[in-house]
Amino acid sequence: MGNIQVKNLSFRYSDMTKNLFNRFSLNIDESWKLGLIGRNGRGKTTFLKLLLGKYVYSGEIQSSVRFKYFPQPIANPTAKTSDILKAITGLADNDLWKVQLEMNKLGLTDALLTRPFSTLSPGERTKLLLAGLFVDDGTFQLIDEPTNHLDMIGRQTVANYLQTKRGFIVVSHDRHFMDQVIDHVLSIDRAKIQLFDGNYETWQHEYNRQNLAEHNEKRHLQTEIKRLQATADQVKQWAGQSENKKSKASYRGQKTVDLDKGFIGHKAAKVMKRSKNTLKRTEADIDKRKSLLKNVDEVVPLTLNYQPPYQKHILRLAEFQVWRNQRILNWPLTIDLQKGQRLVLQAPNGFGKTTILKALLGQKQLIAHGSYELSRTVKISYLMQNFETLTGDLPDYAANFDIDLSSLLNMLRKLGFERSAFSKNLADLSMGQKRKVSLARSLCEPANFYLWDEPLNYLDVITRRQIQALILAVQPTMLVIDHDQDFVKAIATEAPINLAKETH
Ligand SMILES: Nc1ncnc2c1ncn2[C@@H]1O[C@H](COP(=O)(O)OP(=O)(O)OP(=O)(O)O)[C@@H](O)[C@H]1O
Ligand SMILES: [Mg+2]
Repeated sequence: MGNIQVKNLSFRYSDMTKNLFNRFSLNIDESWKLGLIGRNGRGKTTFLKLLLGKYVYSGEIQSSVRFKYFPQPIANPTAKTSDILKAITGLADNDLWKVQLEMNKLGLTDALLTRPFSTLSPGERTKLLLAGLFVDDGTFQLIDEPTNHLDMIGRQTVANYLQTKRGFIVVSHDRHFMDQVIDHVLSIDRAKIQLFDGNYETWQHEYNRQNLAEHNEKRHLQTEIKRLQATADQVKQWAGQSENKKSKASYRGQKTVDLDKGFIGHKAAKVMKRSKNTLKRTEADIDKRKSLLKNVDEVVPLTLNYQPPYQKHILRLAEFQVWRNQRILNWPLTIDLQKGQRLVLQAPNGFGKTTILKALLGQKQLIAHGSYELSRTVKISYLMQNFETLTGDLPDYAANFDIDLSSLLNMLRKLGFERSAFSKNLADLSMGQKRKVSLARSLCEPANFYLWDEPLNYLDVITRRQIQALILAVQPTMLVIDHDQDFVKAIATEAPINLAKETH
């Protein structure tokens, strides 16, 4: 197997004033299992698309392999799954067995092939598209966030599957997943792009070590500059005093050799010049270090516009069941969610959790049985799972939701959203950036109760930590659906309710 060579790659989108990639070079062995990591909006998806040849760039990308990208675009989602697979793999009918082989390894049955693609659950779709990716040799797979629509079991199945493959780049914000499948890490940061030999844990270790070294260096430089600054101040003061003395002495008509204005002035100027130069050099050095330090993301605490409700009972359900496709979706659900409690609903992906939330939010025609009581005066902040339809720009978005634009921008900054992305059309944002827009809105708007549907999807690790810390600090009332087990465990105040099982 050969190498993928990236030489002096520079690229920016037309609406950008600075390059997203600037003369960056890299060698990737075609047998690597490379994990691509970095905060939202750093350019992970863009890099994959550059490898695919989707955009015009300067520099060179050389390789002998064909690249394939996940998720493949689906032109007609209502078509039969086998037809979709043929379209994305280019396989003829009698070669479909190749996909079936991969599907079986991912635990999918052949029966899926005859169903319309749009009726498959998100997890099934993910696995199916992955099977389509690995049908032929001689290709190098670019797998962009396969974990987003997978529940815990689905993630493990895909991790096991990728362990048996070689030659791919995978992007994911799920570190447990990454640790199982990668042997190299490419990290895209604010100030640098770095390659590491090892898995996520090795990378984290090395990254922390570098951060520590940079912090120590900064402290050292700061002490240095303080010392230099003090010297410079002293010199300035001394020169000033000498000037004073000289003029006073001349005024009295005394003969002063030592305090000759020209001599002192000249000497002082020389010393000053020298120290100024040293200062300048040190400051330049510090600037350089600072640009490296920008890499070390400061995690700013978030705020929540939570207004504790007056009511004790926020949401009461008794024997509650909803319809989905003319069938009853869930086991009877009995809930008494009280002020300050956080309840997590769980079910496999594609089960219909979102349908249940919609029923709670007032789509009464979805309710099949049971009673339902959501205090009318409770202000709900709803974070929907589906945000891909964002259009317009941030001022439009703030106006639509009737929230203050500057609060929204401020919140986005705290979430690590680059200022330069503020003026973008929302449709052009990265997946995580889009998620952050909806999330920032929910954090800003006044609410007594939060209904969050997969809030952490697409978010980078740092942002996940921020959200968790916020919830633990504010202790708001919430109903949450999410597959991140660590998060769910940390924030829930009640035992999770599994919708797919009988609840009583
Ligand atoms: N089509 C586009 N037009 C203009 N700007 C874009 C476009 N796509 C992405 N960007 C911008 O380029 C930057 C990198 O985006 P990219 O999607 O590559 O990030 P990412 O690292 O994949 O982020 P995420 O983790 O959120 O998926 C972001 O600032 C984004 O706003
Ligand atoms: Mg991306």
